Formats: sequence, C-alpha cells, structure tokens
Amino acid sequence: MPNKRTFIQQFWKEKKMIGSMVPSSRFLAQKMLENVDFENARIIVELGPGTGVFTDLIIEKMHPDAQLLVFELNENFHHRLAHRITDKRVHCIHDTAEKVQDYLKKIGHEKADVVISSLPLSNFSKELRHSILSAMEQALQDTGQYIQFQYSLQSKKQIKQFFETVNIDFTALNFPPAFVYSCYKTATGKKHSKALNGI
Ligand SMILES: C[S@@+](CC[C@H](N)C(=O)[O-])C[C@H]1O[C@@H](n2cnc3c(N)ncnc32)[C@H](O)[C@@H]1O
Repeated sequence: MPNKRTFIQQFWKEKKMIGSMVPSSRFLAQKMLENVDFENARIIVELGPGTGVFTDLIIEKMHPDAQLLVFELNENFHHRLAHRITDKRVHCIHDTAEKVQDYLKKIGHEKADVVISSLPLSNFSKELRHSILSAMEQALQDTGQYIQFQYSLQSKKQIKQFFETVNIDFTALNFPPAFVYSCYKTATGKKHSKALNGI
C-alpha cells in the first residue's frame, strides 16, 4: 500500500514523467524478465524503477558477479529505493537515462548486456525518445538486449529504427494492460526470444 500511495502522489506532481498512477504488477515484472539470460548477463541497466517492482525481481535473479545500474530521475523514488536497497551489486543513480554511458565508464565498463526500461516513451517528445533510444543502442553490447514495456504500440516504429529485431508480447495482467518489447541490435537476437506473431 505505501508504494501505491507514493506512486499516486508522484504521478500528480509529474504526470508525463511518471506515466502511470500505480506500480506495475508482479506479472508484468515476470514477463519483462522471462527472456533475460541472467546466467551470462554481468552488466544490467534498469531505467525508471519507480518503487522498485522490477528492481526487486532483477536482484533475485541476477548473477552474484553481476552489477545493476538503476537510473531514476524522480527524486522521491530515487531516495526511497537507494535507502531500501543495500545489495552491493546495485548502483542507484539519480540522473537521466541518456547518461548511461558516463555511468558505465564510472564502474569501469563500456557496454551493458541488458537494458530493462519502464520509461513512458510515448509521453516524451520525439527528440527525447530518439536521444534515449540512441543512447541505449550505443550502450549495449552487439549481442545485448533492450526490454521496454509500453501501454500502446505508438513507439514501435521509432524503436525499430534502433533495433533490428523487435519482438512484442502482451499481458492483460497489469493495470493498464501492457506490451513488452524485446529488442536486439542484430537479427541473431531472434533465436533467443519468443516472437508473438500478429502484433
Ligand atoms: C511508468 S513509471 C515505471 C515505474 C516502475 N518501473 C513500475 O513499472 O512500476 C516510469 C518511471 O520512469 C522514471 N523516469 C522518467 N523519465 C526518466 C529518465 N529520463 N531517466 C530516468 N528515469 C526516468 C519516472 O520517474 C518513473 O519512475
């Protein structure tokens, strides 16, 4: 309940940036992570954790030697999460997602293996979407995976400009129901994930 209350409060302050009145469901969290290769992923990036519903599940699943960089622009969400999460593998960053490469360098890495994004892309300007997607494409390994949920297919065309393989799944077990984009820079990514035809 406290998470729901915090979410509603922050939503009324910054509607476009937060993008939802309630945190995502555990079902959506599981769908977001079901195709991630946690056995091999060592550098994981999460964008827009909010109250941390995906963060908690990533921490449960990530390899003991992996590191997780979590970018949250909202000050209240960031401070709550940074205070709550004590796992030394996790770096909570109060900054914007586009700065991902600066922070990768700070921990001694050039590239990430996986990016898990909850950013409300369709609320952003086309220019901001472009700059975020471009930063993620550059920050990912060639074999890297970009996972993004959205409440619509509005950003599909723009996401496809940056990722050659874009598979889309859907869950009704979230409020609102959500599409999950699983994207790879190359066509080889296709064999790693489950394609849903017809979306
Ligand atoms: C739809 S909420 C998702 C929260 C949570 N992951 C969930 O699913 O319940 C989007 C989050 O993205 C954050 N956000 C928006 N723009 C951002 C940016 N440029 N960089 C980092 N975080 C951002 C918001 O503050 C908010 O916490």
